[in-house]
Amino acid sequence: METLRGAAGVRLLLAALFLLLQQLRLGAGIACPCQDPALCTPISGTREFEVLVFDIGGSTWRFYNWTHITTVATFGKYDPELMCYAHSRGARVVLKGDVLVTKIVDPAFRAAWIKQQVDLAKKQYMDGINIDIEQEVARSSPEYDALTALVKETTEAFHKAIPGSQVTFDIAWSPHCIDKRCYNYTGIAESCDFVFVMSYDEQSQVWSDCIARANAPYNQTIAAYEQYIRMGIDPKKIVMGVPWYGYDYTCLSLSEDHVCSIAKVPFRGAPCSDAAGRQVPYKLIMDRVDTSLSGILWNEEYEAPYLEYKAPNGAFHQVWFDNPKSISLKADYVTEAGLRGIGMWNGDCLNYSGGSVAEYQTEAMWEALTPEGP
Ligand SMILES: *[C@@H]1O[C@H](CO)[C@@H](O)[C@H](O)[C@H]1NC(C)=O
Ligand SMILES: *[C@@H]1O[C@H](CO)[C@@H](O)[C@H](O)[C@H]1NC(C)=O
Ligand SMILES: *[C@@H]1O[C@H](CO)[C@@H](O)[C@H](O)[C@H]1NC(C)=O
Ligand SMILES: *[C@@H]1O[C@H](CO)[C@@H](O)[C@H](O)[C@H]1NC(C)=O
Repeated sequence: METLRGAAGVRLLLAALFLLLQQLRLGAGIACPCQDPALCTPISGTREFEVLVFDIGGSTWRFYNWTHITTVATFGKYDPELMCYAHSRGARVVLKGDVLVTKIVDPAFRAAWIKQQVDLAKKQYMDGINIDIEQEVARSSPEYDALTALVKETTEAFHKAIPGSQVTFDIAWSPHCIDKRCYNYTGIAESCDFVFVMSYDEQSQVWSDCIARANAPYNQTIAAYEQYIRMGIDPKKIVMGVPWYGYDYTCLSLSEDHVCSIAKVPFRGAPCSDAAGRQVPYKLIMDRVDTSLSGILWNEEYEAPYLEYKAPNGAFHQVWFDNPKSISLKADYVTEAGLRGIGMWNGDCLNYSGGSVAEYQTEAMWEALTPEGP
């Protein structure tokens, strides 16, 4: 009698403990949200060619061409379905990392921030982090070294806590203190899995004539990769970022030979900037083609497409963007230079609504990322 009661008591206690544990797991978000629990396992393999997609939220990720994708950096709100789906396609899903550079000078603050990111990644079954710090940093400032240390420590912590995880860092299109961002580029590249070069917004600081120009002119873009490589960054640590958006400028005047003068909007010391224009996703630019004055034009100097239209208020606009033609040229360089891969800001700029014209345009943008067969 005594022993039986004892056994029942133990069973009851065990059952209660089990329930408590389950509650704790749920509370900590540890319960796997995927139908197949195996999909909560982080991705560990590496694929030869990286295609990194920035996802800014919403549900268009369902229509991405997943054949190409190796990593999705989630800059929108956490979507467990996206995580499960990406894993089912062998693609990594990584957090967005951003922190105030003035704070990371303190090693204790850095350690706490890193722990927070690792904990979050584990809780959400993520495969790493993409650090996107676009703040001003002066050369030989305390922040300069702290930023490199942050990247190194974050990479070490992630690799240790989540085997196979990926830590990447977004850098400006050129190493020359763009927008007053003077970072230790070689140090940062050495300290993470790869850097993502944001080859866009290249007119953020215009020092010459205030006129509309290409978002990512071919020669200027490529010259900057050559510089990064010459500084000693291994090409296999570089992923090229291309824009899936353009800039719509209101012209103060538009000449016959397509020179569009723009308002002087200063930025970080430069007298004018692409901030005079408005960023527009590729899908909206494509919707404009038919009613534009020009159709799609091609600028030989920048090797970039553009178009012109007249707004209802009578103002002329010039829109500079990238399309499969300009992106393919850059993708060819990725192959030639042996870079790690390519990616875009951002995956949600295309028209996924499924009309035949939209479908063709969208598919062509995905195709342009990867070189044609052998
Ligand atoms: C996705 O890309 C692959 C590889 O280029 C291609 O074969 C396929 O047709 C594309 N899928 C869609 C739905 O466009
Ligand atoms: C950049 O970082 C690396 C690695 O931490 C370091 O060896 C190098 O001295 C740094 N470069 C400069 C210019 O501070
Ligand atoms: C681009 O750079 C190449 C190599 O320096 C040069 O030959 C060519 O003229 C440049 N093209 C333009 C349009 O500036
Ligand atoms: C996308 O494509 C659909 C169907 O072709 C079209 O109706 C729509 O205007 C396009 N643009 C956007 C921004 O969705």
